[in-house]
Amino acid sequence: NAMFTWQRTSFHFQPEKNWMNDPNGPLFYKGWYHLFYQYNPDSAVWGNITWGHAVSADLIHWLYLPIAMVPDQWYDINGVWTGSATILPDGQIVMLYTGSTDKSVQVQNLAYPADPSDPLLLDWVKYPGNPVLVPPRHIGPKDFRDPTTAWAGPDGKWRLTIGSKIGKTGISLVYQTTDFKTYELLDEYLHAVPGTGMWECVDFYPVAINGSVGLDTSATGPGIKHVLKASLDDTKVDHYAIGTYNPANDKWTPDNPEEDVGIGLKWDYGRYYASKSFYDPYKKRRIVWGWINETDTESDDLEKGWASVQTIPRTVLYDNKTGSNVVQWPVEEIESLRQNSTVFEEVVVEPGSVVPLDIGVATQLDISAEFETELLGSGAMEEGYGCSGGAIDRSAMGPFGLLVNAHDSLSELTPIFFRSSNTTKGTNTYFCADETRSSLAPDVFKQVHGSKVPVLQGEKLSMRILVSHIWKTMSQGSA
Ligand code: FRU
Repeated sequence: NAMFTWQRTSFHFQPEKNWMNDPNGPLFYKGWYHLFYQYNPDSAVWGNITWGHAVSADLIHWLYLPIAMVPDQWYDINGVWTGSATILPDGQIVMLYTGSTDKSVQVQNLAYPADPSDPLLLDWVKYPGNPVLVPPRHIGPKDFRDPTTAWAGPDGKWRLTIGSKIGKTGISLVYQTTDFKTYELLDEYLHAVPGTGMWECVDFYPVAINGSVGLDTSATGPGIKHVLKASLDDTKVDHYAIGTYNPANDKWTPDNPEEDVGIGLKWDYGRYYASKSFYDPYKKRRIVWGWINETDTESDDLEKGWASVQTIPRTVLYDNKTGSNVVQWPVEEIESLRQNSTVFEEVVVEPGSVVPLDIGVATQLDISAEFETELLGSGAMEEGYGCSGGAIDRSAMGPFGLLVNAHDSLSELTPIFFRSSNTTKGTNTYFCADETRSSLAPDVFKQVHGSKVPVLQGEKLSMRILVSHIWKTMSQGSA
């Protein structure tokens, strides 16, 4: 296709070629961060799923390694699907993953490193007694996948949870084990939410109410809440909720039933799915990966020979300012990539204007921007403003923000912006990204996304933008 150039990312993880989906079994071992991922070695579309493998010392620069696991057993011949790692107190790695069997039944399998002294964990052994778990009688054979990292209970037994559904109710089954080979299914679910459908890639972990460090997956006690995340198969959205886990009966209760899993908070507002976290004992933080699905058509993917990227790994913490959400931030290592900087101060952006910001020549950008606004006009009540109208939808107090990757003629641009409005219930602020004019290429999936964001008294509006491949950036204001 002569008119367009395919842009590879420079910040984000991508395989050298072919199809990738979910992040799998992320872990830190002997100085290396390991990322496994759902990978088709033969084509740029989904199928023939193996576990791709890469390592990094800084979560930014990656070294591609040979495929870790391929479908070569009756219990995973239709795909080595998503799974998670558990690191035992003695340092042993336990990998649990879903296999799609020769009859396309979803089962759970155990694997471990062939040589624990190898920091690169190149070779993996599948346990000869696999599968270790088959769908329980009341569960559909194709509704049983993506085991979580295990956590230890007060009785010393390990627990893990697996997403499923009963009718249209999304559920999370809990199993207990001591050896990861034999398991006991608990009668009660960790949690269930009617109407949310199949829960894929469940993630479950503790967060500290006060504090700036992440917690090991087995941490419990006062001062700790638990995040439960499900990837909803029906809508392809990652949803989470914050709540309390009771280790005595392995049940989790949302803080706010109106913000329960699947009906409340989204983990991300863009193209994002199948996220998975892990605890990094080296830097004492919890890190979350997520899969960014490709936005090109399948035929374009085949033509360019690759599809999909992973997000920048993000550190996640409980937001103790609001008490009702988590905060995510790109891992600090990303800042080591900054080579030079340009500072723009007191840039005045008049209503309806676009101000070019000359950043010279660059291929990647890490932007921090802070905004102060001045109320123009009457400050009348404006109900109903959000992100959906995109950047062309003007209100008394917005939108304002940055036009990223803007072509000279402004024929291509991606506005990333705030929109505040006075409503009868107070000031509402939305943070949005409008992709509708991001590319002239036909058939690219484009959306306007974003959400209302909590703004506390006296807080300034600021944004951080990582541009993985840049053309030009301008600043926009309008009223
Ligand atoms: C989520 C998912 C998982 C499954 C894997 C298969 O994107 O559908 O539920 O294990 O991808 O590739």
